Amino acid sequence: MPQHEQHPTTAAPRRVLVTGSAGFIGSHLAHVLVQAGTTVVGVDRRDPATDATAAANLSPLSGQPGYVHITADLINCAIEPLLLDADAVFHIAGVPGVRPSWGPQFGDYLASNVLTTHRVLEASTRIGVPRLVVASSSSVYGQTANGASVEADRPQPTSPYAVTKLAEEQLCLAYATRPNSPSIVALRYFTVYGPRQRADMFTHRALQAAMTGQPLRLYGDGRQRRDFTYIDDVVAATIAAATVPTAQGVINVGGGSNASLLEVINIVTSLVGRDIQIQQDRARSGDVLLTRADPSRAHEVLGWRPRVDLHNGLHAHMHALAAQAPNYSRAA
Ligand code: NAD
Ligand code: UGA
Repeated sequence: MPQHEQHPTTAAPRRVLVTGSAGFIGSHLAHVLVQAGTTVVGVDRRDPATDATAAANLSPLSGQPGYVHITADLINCAIEPLLLDADAVFHIAGVPGVRPSWGPQFGDYLASNVLTTHRVLEASTRIGVPRLVVASSSSVYGQTANGASVEADRPQPTSPYAVTKLAEEQLCLAYATRPNSPSIVALRYFTVYGPRQRADMFTHRALQAAMTGQPLRLYGDGRQRRDFTYIDDVVAATIAAATVPTAQGVINVGGGSNASLLEVINIVTSLVGRDIQIQQDRARSGDVLLTRADPSRAHEVLGWRPRVDLHNGLHAHMHALAAQAPNYSRAA
């Protein structure tokens, strides 16, 4: 089973801010850092007292002396007090998801992905935080041919969400040119999966369908491919981006497990031991046919390579779901 400890990193930071710490990626990151001895201030607008997903994501952190949780919206809260004495900021908060970004929710995408990043950049520069690591997205590449995407490729976002993530990145690159700027790293995460993955995402839904017998809605023909990246690998790359002596600019975090949705369905079916009832649906606007990361830069700058393959990653994801909900089960 995948373990968080698998990647060697340089010394853990002493004290950090993790934004989006009640979310899927942010909660894993905060947990690994706390286990390594880092004091983590986590901030998120979802309140674990009223939001069941936030409460579940934060449960491994509850009672940990190295973790302090603040419920606040980054669009208007005072950020500077959260940054005092921080060695690094991990700005993971944001509104994710490609397909819901069309229509009226765009304002929230813009506010949480661009305006909050501006506030984090301003506060980090004023306080003099040395390193800022920001969660960007493979979606900035848009439709690509069969080759792997390299960071120098021209971005061609095909959804409003991807436009906001590209704007977020570009804002970071602009701030990075200022004399007193932190060194800023924007990580392009590729379709992250594993325990506590958001319930709107494909691998969660495929496992859920196999484990509960509920149908799986498949958008398009299922031949679209994703570079599925396991959460522990993502956390390791993210920590390395804050701890290696020099790092800046844009870096892909992916490159391990490119597969089609139909291939994922086959693996899930064999792991769970139960067929999935598929409901074919139309392809969704903004979805790309293929993502594939070239991980060379991540290897050169961060000393990072993905370690967990899709089969092992889905196996761990399935076990986490089985432990979390009694109505999720494998075939006897
Ligand atoms: P998530 O929704 O589980 O976590 C994001 C968290 O940010 C949430 O808990 C949310 O409440 C918080 N947040 C949003 N706006 C906020 C605000 N204004 N103030 C305070 N908190 C706010 O999503 P995730 O899958 O963990 O994604 C985390 C980040 O990684 C996002 O920036 C997303 O764009 C990026 N990303 C995710 C993936 C993926 O596959 N999950 C891939 C590429 C990029
Ligand atoms: C994921 C995240 O949701 C984005 O926030 C992130 O920015 C992006 O990865 C990234 O890599 O940058 P996506 O690749 O669309 O986006 O991942 P899923 O939401 O898991 O969808 C993958 C594929 O499965 C898509 O083609 C989607 O249409 C399909 N899908 C999803 C279904 O067929 N059925 C579903 O119920 C859900």
